[in-house]
Amino acid sequence: MSDVGRPPLHVGIIMDGNGRWAQSRGLARISGHARGAKRVTEIVRGCPDIGVTHLTLYAFSTENWRRPVAEVEGLMKIFQQYILSKLDGLQREGVRVRFIGMRHRIPLKLQRLMARLEEATAECERLNLTIAIDYGGRDEIARAVQKMTAELGDGPVEEIGEDSMAAALDTAGLPDPDFIIRTSGEQRVSNFLLWQGVYAEYSFPEIPWPEFTLAHLRDEVTAFRSRDRRFGAVGAPTSVSITAGG
Ligand code: IPE
Ligand code: IPE
Ligand code: MG
Repeated sequence: MSDVGRPPLHVGIIMDGNGRWAQSRGLARISGHARGAKRVTEIVRGCPDIGVTHLTLYAFSTENWRRPVAEVEGLMKIFQQYILSKLDGLQREGVRVRFIGMRHRIPLKLQRLMARLEEATAECERLNLTIAIDYGGRDEIARAVQKMTAELGDGPVEEIGEDSMAAALDTAGLPDPDFIIRTSGEQRVSNFLLWQGVYAEYSFPEIPWPEFTLAHLRDEVTAFRSRDRRFGAVGAPTSVSITAGG
């Protein structure tokens, strides 16, 4: 089966540029984050219509705790407000929400809301939305190795392989991302989906996240469609993915 012309199944977005967007307007960084949350609503709503069935959003990295306490607290409040205000709407729109990342460092109230949203949308099938909070690819891999070795006990190490690794990651059961977009022009991965993104296509639009619209996403997806994905093979592109995704 050829991948050419097919929209991405799974899009990952590194939602970057909120702080600079706000600062360039003389606003506090936190208003950039608040504006960024509004973009999430439009993008989530529009994904199914452009053929995107899986969307993974990078909201807060394991390194983002290094930011000033006020910014971190402001972000946690925005995540909380987002969940509270979207709880019913996401369910109605058929969006299944999952969170990936460490949970124990997140304020308890937010942890509970995250669990509530996951539960409320568990049967939804129109769009799979994964939100990465306190997420780092290296941490996820280290936790997966811990989990696998604990389960292995005295068993043979050969049982640890690509498939079992994929199944031990937070993203178990989800397909690998086909396409990763990082807004605001920075060209780096910043610890996002390290294992899963090995054969993702990348795009780095200059647009800051608070200005990234569904029309921009549609254009990105159109450009993605003409990319020639070879997965290490020669000649005609193939739809073979690198890991089974658990
Ligand atoms: C992305 O925007 C949001 C988070 C990392 C939480 P930034 O806050 O990193 O914005 P810039 O990169 O400073 O502009
Ligand atoms: C990556 O952005 C994390 C998120 C978008 C959530 P950062 O702004 O934290 O990344 P660096 O520090 O520029 O690499
Ligand atoms: Mg940034």
